[in-house]
Amino acid sequence: MFITFEGIEGSGKSEQARRLADRLEREHISVLHTREPGGTALGDQLRELVLLRGELDTVARAEALLMCTARAQLVEQVIRPALERSLVVVCDRFADSTLAYQGFGRGLHIAGLKAVISFATAGLSPDMTILLDLPVEMGLARKQAQPAAARNRFEQEAEAFHERVRTGYRTLAHDEPHRWRCFDALKEPEELSEDIWRVVAAELRRT
Ligand code: TYD
Repeated sequence: MFITFEGIEGSGKSEQARRLADRLEREHISVLHTREPGGTALGDQLRELVLLRGELDTVARAEALLMCTARAQLVEQVIRPALERSLVVVCDRFADSTLAYQGFGRGLHIAGLKAVISFATAGLSPDMTILLDLPVEMGLARKQAQPAAARNRFEQEAEAFHERVRTGYRTLAHDEPHRWRCFDALKEPEELSEDIWRVVAAELRRT
């Protein structure tokens, strides 16, 4: 089973992805926990390049392709082999981030992005995608605690950009309700992780 976490900045998805991976391990279910961009030697370098190197004036199409390059490497080297070994794969962000950020956020054509994503992943799509949804101002307020210099390229974007990303996620979830599960990211982390676990456990029993 391939499970991805998505959400805007400050949604707490990294923490929830970690909590789910820990819970699966406690239940003696073999799990692979990874993230995007990253998770491979190439992906980690691209992450550094695209997120932190502010002086690189990357255009939106190049940004999308770099994300998809990291994804191609992660899918072939890490995710597919893990799924073939029947591990549950938990991935912090995946292709929907490209649709939400580069598509809805930057305004790139969704159909074009889907074609590039499909090439990069060789058609691999998550079985379940968990959306942690919250108002943009609440998400950004959570990030405000960090010094400005520690913020990545996207965290420095204007609020309107993040509103488009949030709308994007909600649209994607609405369009594919069988794959997406939406959660209120304002809930206490403990309670939220229990809600997520219940949904994942039910799905694991079903498959
Ligand atoms: P994030 O996952 O939020 O990591 P951290 O917790 O270290 O801040 O950072 C990844 C950033 O990359 C996030 O701002 C969203 C962006 N991103 C895209 O724009 N497109 C993509 O396809 C992916 C995977 C990420």
